[in-house]
Amino acid sequence: MNDETLSLLTRSLNTAMVLVLAVGLYFRYRPKVHMPLMLTAFAVDLANVLIIELGRGAVGQATEAFAAGDYFSQFHVAVSALSIAGYVVAVVTGVKLYRILTTRAPNDPARAQRLRRVHKFNAAIFVVTRLSSYATSFWM
Ligand code: HEM
Repeated sequence: MNDETLSLLTRSLNTAMVLVLAVGLYFRYRPKVHMPLMLTAFAVDLANVLIIELGRGAVGQATEAFAAGDYFSQFHVAVSALSIAGYVVAVVTGVKLYRILTTRAPNDPARAQRLRRVHKFNAAIFVVTRLSSYATSFWM
């Protein structure tokens, strides 16, 4: 695959997943719609990192950017890594929340409240990091 095709593929996937995340956020109070959409975006974003790594050695480039003190690339790498961490926190808190919400007799409303607060706080940070990663990806 040449560089131009690779770039078109990864940018298209990136854009598509931002849209999937937006729809998933819209359906945040319908877990049966929200969860599959968010998990799809997570899986495709991870696959995209793998495609970029196999195509042009993203990890090597990121290491070089850090070594060379290229602040813009460093920022892109940092917000992209934070997005992945945000996905992990979202899955962990989201699954726990879903288990509580779907228990026949929820016995710990305080825990559900706590999880919801963490999930929501993480979501706010995630939106900023994921959009920053998306915006800066076009200059990479
Ligand atoms: C990074 C991706 C995600 C973002 C940005 C996100 C965001 C949100 C937001 C903003 C809410 C509403 C919280 C509130 O106002 O109380 C929510 C609810 C929820 N999310 Fe996520 N979420 C993400 C991923 C996930 C995943 C992966 C799961 C589970 C696999 C999940 C499960 C849930 C559940 C169960 C609720 C509660 C719905 C309800 O109260 O009826 N979320 N999410």
